[in-house]
Amino acid sequence: MRHEVIEKSVNLMMVLVVLAVSIGGLVELLPLMVSDETTKPAEKIEPYSPLRLAGRDVYIREGCYGCHSQMVRPFRSETERYGPYSTAGESVYDRPFQFGSRRTGPDLARVGGRYSDAWHRLHLEDPRALVPESNMPGYPWLNEQMVDPELVTAKLRTLKMLGDPYTDEQIEGAAAQVDGMTEMDALVAYLQGLGINRSNRR
Ligand code: HEC
Repeated sequence: MRHEVIEKSVNLMMVLVVLAVSIGGLVELLPLMVSDETTKPAEKIEPYSPLRLAGRDVYIREGCYGCHSQMVRPFRSETERYGPYSTAGESVYDRPFQFGSRRTGPDLARVGGRYSDAWHRLHLEDPRALVPESNMPGYPWLNEQMVDPELVTAKLRTLKMLGDPYTDEQIEGAAAQVDGMTEMDALVAYLQGLGINRSNRR
């Protein structure tokens, strides 16, 4: 029996397993790397504005993803609660993406526009002032820390090198847009932008 030959030879078995796994892996991965649906921005999705980009980095630095996902799964219970399910084309400008899986707090993929800026500021400063049973930590220091305009400009330049379609004017004007802004301003701008550009938004 030919199968017995394979089962009795560790080396042959290893080679064949590696071969089978590689083919399986490629079949799964390659379409995702070339398909327009996963590599091209969905309709209305644009690169982050300088302020929102700075806010996104605050979000990552503070580890908000440790408690919040940004991916609405395609189930009734999720879409009823959060809004339309997430698609890959929404996240093409997210490096790295913030899908996450841990949900100590609610999913944030569609939180943009749900509350006022003032609500977010107070909530981020002291969550229990608004939601008494919340176990989210407060981030009051974001009011004191300023966004670094030079750093934001450098980030935009880097993203352009990686293929994000920023124009030279946008990069030149970036510093002026974030000058004098606090990290709180940036984070709130980022949150208010989450999910607002979707074409199938309800
Ligand atoms: C220890 C877990 C934890 C961390 C870390 C955390 N959160 Fe939360 N967050 C929660 C919980 C729990 C709630 C629900 C109660 C509330 O609204 O405070 C929540 C609620 C929210 C809401 C309101 C969402 C809605 O739909 O009502 C926003 C916005 C939010 N968090 C943003 C953030 C941001 C931004 C950060 C990082 C700076 C962060 N959270 C960090 C646990 C966390």
